[in-house]
Amino acid sequence: MKAVSDLGDLSGQRVLVRSDLNVPLSGTDITDDGRVRASVPTIERLASAGARVIVVAHLGRPKGAPDPAYSLKPVATRLGELLGAEVHFASDTVGDDARRVVESLADGQVAVLENVRFNAGETAKDDAERGAFADQLADLADVFVSDGFGVVHRKQASVYDIASRLPAAVGGLVQTEVEVLKRLTENPEGPYAVVLGGSKVSDKLGVIENLIDKADSLLIGGGMVFTFLKAQGHEVGTSLLEADQLDVASGYIERAAAQGVDLVLPTDVVVAPAFADEDASVVPADAMPADQMGLDIGPESAARFAEVIGASRTVFWNGPMGVFEMASFDAGTRAVALALTQMNGLSVVGGGDSAAAVRQLGFDDAQFGHISTGGGASLEYLEGKTLPGLAILEGTDD
Ligand code: 3PG
Repeated sequence: MKAVSDLGDLSGQRVLVRSDLNVPLSGTDITDDGRVRASVPTIERLASAGARVIVVAHLGRPKGAPDPAYSLKPVATRLGELLGAEVHFASDTVGDDARRVVESLADGQVAVLENVRFNAGETAKDDAERGAFADQLADLADVFVSDGFGVVHRKQASVYDIASRLPAAVGGLVQTEVEVLKRLTENPEGPYAVVLGGSKVSDKLGVIENLIDKADSLLIGGGMVFTFLKAQGHEVGTSLLEADQLDVASGYIERAAAQGVDLVLPTDVVVAPAFADEDASVVPADAMPADQMGLDIGPESAARFAEVIGASRTVFWNGPMGVFEMASFDAGTRAVALALTQMNGLSVVGGGDSAAAVRQLGFDDAQFGHISTGGGASLEYLEGKTLPGLAILEGTDD
């Protein structure tokens, strides 16, 4: 893949950067600006090279038409604060205002275009419709830089199609993400622990499938663990359960044993009578009361997870261990996060939600080896899938 340094002199060039600025919002307040921060270095680098920087991004999943609830305006404002520079904002993506804003940019200035998903062509399944929209985007610029790692798994106009319409390169954020994720899939330094949480086994099947041959230990917590505990024949009360994944979970339990992978499941669980921050208690994982719901891994399990992580040289973690948003159920996620910050070796936090969780619990990005900006994208990479936004830049697209 070409890097920004391979693009030659960018002074005066209109550079369209695809960033992932898809941040969680509460009204117009950004509750976690991690992705905006992560996008700053490439934008800054291009602006300092004298480029006229046109940032294209999406927010949420609007239905292919303008929807004020998904406006990128507050995100553009935050980007301006982080850059310490004025950021121009176009109220459309490829219309009159976008053209006006782009034309008015001086060398070294930055503009953000309104949510690219306000245009049906962006996410169209039909190649011609998507291509026609990519043509309109390409008309705005001279060069394309792909820097939105969180969207490289999407075959969308501003991620995929545009890369074949302009001289294209990969930005520093995508480069770093790919380098780190490669270290997790190609010859990771052992002992290698993969820690998975979150609510659904079905979301993590591909990752387990692809990493079970590479990992020395597989630690499982979060809502998905109850499907594993049930598969072992334990009572799981009113906890989350994916009944249609029980055979799959049993299969992984057997495979881990056969391949000598240490499958670490919780030995104790924090339960409560309902999905609420009250009346929590700790019970053995093999003796959960039928009327209780498991909402976090227990303290004994958290200590064991931390011990395995501490003894590892490479750790990948995706998904909270419990309902960390409620104080009674955040200890498992906190313990795992802390163990990652203390281990010697490469610690990687994958996924938009996991990244937001560690920040919400008061950890700092710099305490981890790498926090991926990609949720679905990092998982799909670790599943060994082809990511369209990378394939088109690598020339491996078919
Ligand atoms: C993400 O939040 O994982 C990325 O921004 C991609 O968003 P999407 O899942 O709506 O395509």
